[in-house]
Amino acid sequence: MVPGRDEQARQSRREFIKRVIASGAVASAAGYVYGGLSGCSPLGRAPAGIERLISLNVNGQVRWVDALPQETLGMTLRYKLGLTGTKLGCDRGECGACTVMLDDIPHNSCSVLTHGVRGRRVVTVEGVVGPNGELHPVQQAFIDELSPQCGFCTPGQVVSAVALLKRNPQPTREQCRAALAGNLCRCGAYDNYLNGVLRAAAVMAAGGLTNPAALRT
Ligand code: FES
Ligand code: FES
Repeated sequence: MVPGRDEQARQSRREFIKRVIASGAVASAAGYVYGGLSGCSPLGRAPAGIERLISLNVNGQVRWVDALPQETLGMTLRYKLGLTGTKLGCDRGECGACTVMLDDIPHNSCSVLTHGVRGRRVVTVEGVVGPNGELHPVQQAFIDELSPQCGFCTPGQVVSAVALLKRNPQPTREQCRAALAGNLCRCGAYDNYLNGVLRAAAVMAAGGLTNPAALRT
């Protein structure tokens, strides 16, 4: 008996699924989707000829790491070097939660490949503290100004503010706003963070606290 049109369609679909499973295409696709976020699966294979064991300068220390060619710096910092102060929010360069400094310039570490930062100075939020663990003036000012609400965006805000004060120790409020514009705060605590940056700038310049009310003008 000649199969009807519906039966032919079912058979060709069955053949298609068989071929997909046999070729492993589904498994590969799933690995891509989930591996895209991990980017650092220990099962990953580097293409022949690409060196995976590399050294990075992170917070003033040489750190050796086994990094895949497609691995982002944010993934390496958090999941291989244990520097979990760097947060991953959007993982696509939109929120600033993953901000770190590369040679004193803030970057979204979710959008930078680990292999691309060899030879550069990487500073995370863990690296801005003093030699004995003292808080950076920006961190202390954020506490004093009650800047964080939930705190998720705070490490990125700290790093962006520290980078700003390195290149511009006496910024205006508008300059602070521009420098932190890439750091989204879901709690909307923007003004509190700006107050904190201005307080830190004043503290660093004066070597002591000044009237906080005067810092907001
Ligand atoms: S996690 Fe990198 S910008 Fe959002
Ligand atoms: S303090 Fe909650 S996201 Fe900024």
